[in-house]
Order: sequence, then structure tokens, then C-alpha cells
Amino acid sequence: MTSYKIIDHTYDAVVVGAGGSGLRATMGIAESGLKTACITKVFPTRSHTVAAQGGIAASLGNNSPDHWTWHMYDTVKGSDWLGDQDAIEYLCREAPQAVYELEHAGMPFSRNEDGTIYQRPFGGHMQNMGEGPPVQRTAAAADRTGHAMLHALYQQSLKYDADFFVEYFALDLIMEDGACRGVIALCMEDGSIHRFRAHQTVLATGGYGRVYFSATSAHTCTGDGNAMVLRAGLPLQDMEFVQFHPTGIYGAGVLITEGARGEGGYLTNSEGERFMERYAPSAKDLASRDVVSRSMAMEMREGRGVGKNGDHIFLHLDHIDPKVLHERLPGITETGKVFAGVDLTRQPLPVTPTVHYNMGGIPTNFHGEVVRLKDGNPDSVVPGLFAVGEAACVSVHGANRLGSNSLIDLVVFGRATGLRIKDIQKPSTPHNPLPKGSEELALTRLDKFRHASGGSPTAQIRLEMQQTMQKHCAVFRDTELLTEGVGKIAQTYKRMTDVSVKDRSLIWNTDLVETLELDNLIGQAVVTMNSAANRTESRGAHMHEDFPERNDAEWMKHTITTFTGWGGEGGATAIDYRPVHDYTLTDDVDYIKPKKRVY
Ligand code: FUM
Repeated sequence: MTSYKIIDHTYDAVVVGAGGSGLRATMGIAESGLKTACITKVFPTRSHTVAAQGGIAASLGNNSPDHWTWHMYDTVKGSDWLGDQDAIEYLCREAPQAVYELEHAGMPFSRNEDGTIYQRPFGGHMQNMGEGPPVQRTAAAADRTGHAMLHALYQQSLKYDADFFVEYFALDLIMEDGACRGVIALCMEDGSIHRFRAHQTVLATGGYGRVYFSATSAHTCTGDGNAMVLRAGLPLQDMEFVQFHPTGIYGAGVLITEGARGEGGYLTNSEGERFMERYAPSAKDLASRDVVSRSMAMEMREGRGVGKNGDHIFLHLDHIDPKVLHERLPGITETGKVFAGVDLTRQPLPVTPTVHYNMGGIPTNFHGEVVRLKDGNPDSVVPGLFAVGEAACVSVHGANRLGSNSLIDLVVFGRATGLRIKDIQKPSTPHNPLPKGSEELALTRLDKFRHASGGSPTAQIRLEMQQTMQKHCAVFRDTELLTEGVGKIAQTYKRMTDVSVKDRSLIWNTDLVETLELDNLIGQAVVTMNSAANRTESRGAHMHEDFPERNDAEWMKHTITTFTGWGGEGGATAIDYRPVHDYTLTDDVDYIKPKKRVY
């Protein structure tokens, strides 16, 4: 192996990722006087949070009556009872304060006439403990809420004494005796290798939407933290639950916010029928995302899709006052024009369900601490390791996330992580020496791919993986599709031993970085496919047609999957379970008992 010079750094805490959750965690940790670093592979304001559109959920009650217990009820129901109710209570209670904190940080929210923050309806959010009518709970900055939020957070984060390592690609965790001791990263600009020794490491690395062919996620969404956790021998949780957003622009995959339906937009099939009235008679187009996506897929399957191939659906906004579109939905008005050539004020937009969010991820408690099943304890904390944001599975979203519950998850649990680290970590605590060979895992892998000279270009393997996931692990699944998918994805994984990297340099080697990202993705693809094949029921986003009902007696439990087939052996997995938390955090609210989920 080539010998690499290593530059050493020592911190109390290191955050990997500078999206909404990473920045909020960085701010909280640095504020408490701890020496803090934030490592990020893109400039902070280019993190994928910037692409969030419709808004952030909190029961402010500005545009309709609301209460945090109503928000909690909707989130539990949206999760199809796979969410942990202690964590959901925490999220919904803390949400209003988190939004006011953003307001005070300078986030330019849209406003009501009386100056309060504007809130719009979003799918699955109702008044009166699910009884309805729809609630206006989603606070918005037009349809560029993520952009406004990320910029406000980045500006604020600069006032704290944290060091930012920008365009550094995290390679692997440093683990010793089951505890995390830091992380190794590659500076992409000059190829230098950096070893960050830290008492606490926070993974805020986002989702892994790019395992699919068509996703609203940025190309950077490769789940790097999830993959590092798998390589550390730790499991990921509930990876079978992949959210398809109902309205990605047909052919382009670009997001059209659910806020479009919140502002009165509706879907039609090739017969011009508002078909959601049949599937969700009460909430209609504002049912939860899994329900709307499945209904759209069903319409297309039964021959009522739009277009000569019947492979999309129309979203209508042409009946809405153009002034409202201009003020509240300017972003999608522009993307509709650019990516579909459609003038939304006059024409319907062709849309199709598109991969948008990973409910699964690194299992944590509501303090952000990574947990694992150890010695019979399902909530055993992994010392020194935290996860937040889409990388984490707290689990507040369970089997299906409600729209606008992601941005609030970022800031509530980013803050919670900062608070926990402040509680458990004294500034300037001396560090033990790192274990011998702490860099070995990261550098062996880097060197292997840097000199890979097989016959399969990275882009070819990536495409094969994405097509397999798109076909075999989509909105509708069944035993045959999944079994075949497990075999196919194992074959694709084996091709990583034949990968070819042409650029051997270390200066802005995008060929190498994309290959490392693909290696990260493909482990998660294997875990997702195997976890999906294993769950023989239907719940939330996991619709298994051979087992069409939810089966609480056998399956109200979290899947935890470790990846065992390293080194091109076809990517074997081992599956175990953690119980769903069927208790709340306080006595202020009762456990919400499971019932049939209808909208
Ligand atoms: O539709 C949207 O604006 C997306 C929001 C979300 O995923 O929370």
C-alpha cells in the first residue's frame, strides 16, 4: 500500500456534515465551550437541506387552531405505528420553540397579514387528534424554506468558535473496543489525509437517495455516515422504508413541493378524474405521501396514467390565482418551466412518485446517541457516537415520514445532540492515545480504490445498482421481485471487485471520490433490499403485495441490519430487531394505540 502522510487534529467533538442538523449540532456544541470541528464534503450552504421546499412543521397555530399533541398524533399515525413515541413526543413538544429560534436567527419566513409566520397545510397533518379538518402547521419561506433555513443556520454558526473543514470527505470512523474515537477524512483539494481525534463524533451526513435511479436527492446524497457505521460493524435500522414523494417532475426527478397541494393543487389521471377522492375520501390529495404515491402508481398500473406510455400523472395548479403562485410557490413555477417546459399558471405539470427520503438510518435515542442491541439491551449506547438528521433513525418517522417533519427533525435533534454532548463532555478532557493502526481501515480502502484497475467503470456499476433498486424495491414490492432483487444486488456488489478508477492522483480526484461514494451506496442498497425482502407485512412506505396488511403481532418492531459480506462476497446481511418504544416521554400525553390508518 502507498504510504500516506497523516495530519492529526484533536477536538472535543467533531461533526461530520453541515446541513441543517450538522450546523445546529455544531452551534450547540461550540456554544458550550467545547473545541469543535465540522467536516463537510460540500460548502455548508450547498448541503442538501438547501433543496427543501415546502416547510417545517410546528404547532404554532398561526393559521388554524393547533396543539403539539395533535402534531404528535399525526406523526405516530403517519409512521404507521413504527415510530418511537417518546421521541415523537420530544419532537412535537420542542418544535414550536425550534421554529421561533430560527425566526430569531434571521430566517426570512413568509408572513401573515398580522406579521406572524405563515403556515400552510401539508399531507397527513390534521386538527383534533386526526379527526380533521386539515391543519395549517407547515411554516414556510415561500417554497424555498430549506434554502432560507440553511443560510440562517450557517450565518449563525459562524459566530461560534468552531473550525470548519470544507470539502473534506470523511472516509471511516476510528473505533476502539466498541467506542468511537474520531474519524479519518480526505481533503479533496490537495489529497491530504486528516485524522480527527475526538471524544464525541456526530454523523450528520444525510440520506442515501442516490441508490435509486430517480430521486429528488442531490448527487451528494450517498449516505456516507451510514456506510461508515456499517463498516464499523454496527447495524442500520428500518432501511426497508424508503419514501417516494408523489410529485417529482416526470423524467427529471426534480421535486415539486407538497406545498403545491397544500395551496390547493390536485392530481388527475388520463380521464381527468381527481382520483385521490377514491383512495382517501377525507384528506384526498393531502393524504400522507405513501398513500398518495401508491394511489398514483395504482392509477398508472390500471391504465389511467397520462401520456402515450401512461407513465405519469397530472398535477394542476392552473386554477390558482397567479399572484398566489408568484408569492408562495415561485420556485416550482420556475422549475416547472425549466424541467418540464410547463407554464403552471395555464398547464398541468407531469409528475410521478420519486424517491425522496430514507426513514431508515443509524439507530439513535432522542438525545442523538447511537444505540445498538447489546447483551440483551436494545438501547445500549455506543460511546462517543451520535447521529442526527436523515442519517439517523431516532425513530420519529417510523415507516413513513410526514412532509415538513424533516426540517423540524433536523433542528430539534441537532439541538438535542448539542445539549447531550454539553452534559456528558467536559471541555479539554485529555485524550487517550489512539489505538495502533487507527487509520488502517480508511486508508486500505482508499488505496484499494485509488489503484483499482478492473473492467467495470464506476458509472456502469452505479447505473446497474440504481436500476435494480428502482425496479425491485419501489412503491409496490412482492416476494418474487424482492427475491430476484436480493440476488441481483448481490451480483452488482460483487462487481466492486472489478471496478476501474482511471485517475490515480489525489488532487480533486472526482473519479476516486465517486467510487468511494458508490462503495458507500452499494452497501446500503444491499441492506435495503435484504431488509425489504425480510419484512413480510405492509406498513407505511413498505407495500408488500403478498402480505398486504399491517401485522402488528409479528412486525411492530424495528429491523436492524448489519452488513457482513465485505470484500466482494456478494454482500451478505444479518438481521435482528429492536422493540418499538410503546411509551411516551411524560405523563402529559397517553400512548397512542395502534389502529387502522385511513385518511
Ligand atoms: O414537498 C416538500 O416540500 C418536501 C418537504 C419534505 O420532504 O418535508
